[in-house]
Amino acid sequence: MTGDLHTGAGGEAAPVTGVASERAVATETTREAWNTRLGFVLAAVGSAVGLGNMWRFSYITAEKGGAAFVILYILMTLVVGIPIMMAEFALGRGTRRSSIGALRLTGGPRWAPLGYLFIAAGILILSFYSVIAGWVMRYALRGIASGFPTEAAEYFDQIASGAPAMGFHLVFMIVTIGIVMGGVQKGIERASVIMMPALFLIVVGLAVWASTLAGSGAGYRFYLTPNFEALLSLDTLAAAASQAFFSLSLGMGCMLTFSSYLSRQESLPREATVISFADFSVAFISGLVVFPVIFALGLQGAVGASTLGALFISLPGAFLEMGGVGRIVGVLFFTALFIGALTSAISLLEVVVSALIDEWRIPRRTAAIGAGILITLIGLWPAADLNALGAIDAVVSNIFLPVGALGTALFVGWLMKNPIDEVAHGAADGLRPWLKGWLWTLRIVVPILLVLVLSSSLPATREALAGLFGGG
Ligand code: TRP
Repeated sequence: MTGDLHTGAGGEAAPVTGVASERAVATETTREAWNTRLGFVLAAVGSAVGLGNMWRFSYITAEKGGAAFVILYILMTLVVGIPIMMAEFALGRGTRRSSIGALRLTGGPRWAPLGYLFIAAGILILSFYSVIAGWVMRYALRGIASGFPTEAAEYFDQIASGAPAMGFHLVFMIVTIGIVMGGVQKGIERASVIMMPALFLIVVGLAVWASTLAGSGAGYRFYLTPNFEALLSLDTLAAAASQAFFSLSLGMGCMLTFSSYLSRQESLPREATVISFADFSVAFISGLVVFPVIFALGLQGAVGASTLGALFISLPGAFLEMGGVGRIVGVLFFTALFIGALTSAISLLEVVVSALIDEWRIPRRTAAIGAGILITLIGLWPAADLNALGAIDAVVSNIFLPVGALGTALFVGWLMKNPIDEVAHGAADGLRPWLKGWLWTLRIVVPILLVLVLSSSLPATREALAGLFGGG
């Protein structure tokens, strides 16, 4: 077992199982590994924290009536999010393979298609995610160069699709590809270790600033006072579960892939908890920026009204009205959003690249460039047509991710041999009794909730597709 020396990731022999020889081959080829535990945590937090926290979270919270949704979201993070993240970690770290290989090694070739579904989801998400990230870059640069536009809605219409959107999508993809080409330590880890603390500081600073705004009280009331009728709705519950696993980057092997570079000495339950808590904190604190700002300026109607464009229209409008301070605050806000988007995009591309490296032994640089070009080309479609963007988002978020998460939960819960052993490896001894609870949550509770999510989001998916093909 000299392979473990090369990985630098744990210094311990892999358990002897039927797949030990294949695993030994994999580790001998010097599989990459994280340099430090903090590097892994920040990279995973970087994957989790993104447009989902600062943009999707705000508009869904607004749409679903505020605080009640936030409570359900916390609950779903605990009940669905952390257990699925631990399941992905068990698969990734246990096999030291990216998604396709991890599933095949654990469950046999019949399970490889679930891995292909993950890869397809990653490609599709990144294709539109990058377009939105392009808008974010554009707003940040515009804020720096000449201030936020006076006609926010018209400006958004101009830049959101067509040639301008394609250009920024291209630039964003080039940056993402460049970082992934650098590898796990020198690319992904280094970028995350530098950028994530910056993002956190900006968001906290903005929340403190927002508390000083006159009229912010109405925003806090909306955001923090629950309406208990909404709490009881199944629909809101499903929306909360779906937001939780989008935000935590679950359901497509992202966390699985990242954990395949992790040492067996680290505690998986601890890492899952830390990462989920950090992800929730950034979402929650972003709400402490967005809602006071929007309510202080009486713009609340704008957020609930449109989904995709909401933040890109109402927030720049608010920043403009606030004059010089607004411009600085706005640039900081869009910079934080850009950082979040970039570290998430890196993780999406890495899922694809890691599979190309593991399964087809394609060199990292070639894999990153090839996959990157493919995704850039697919992204031209959502960049050309907002309806396409909405439709891809709906299909992937409402179908691919819940199906992927359901598959992962059932696979680890019912099929994987001794998942508790893998999860307990490196964890505190006192945790063991709790891990039985984790396993049964994966077996029963998570599948029920995911079926609920799947069924309740079907109408929205159908609507998004109708918007695409009906041309409206
Ligand atoms: N979690 C990221 C966000 O909140 C987006 C993301 C990255 C993602 N990787 C993912 C979503 C994998 C689902 C699956 O913006």
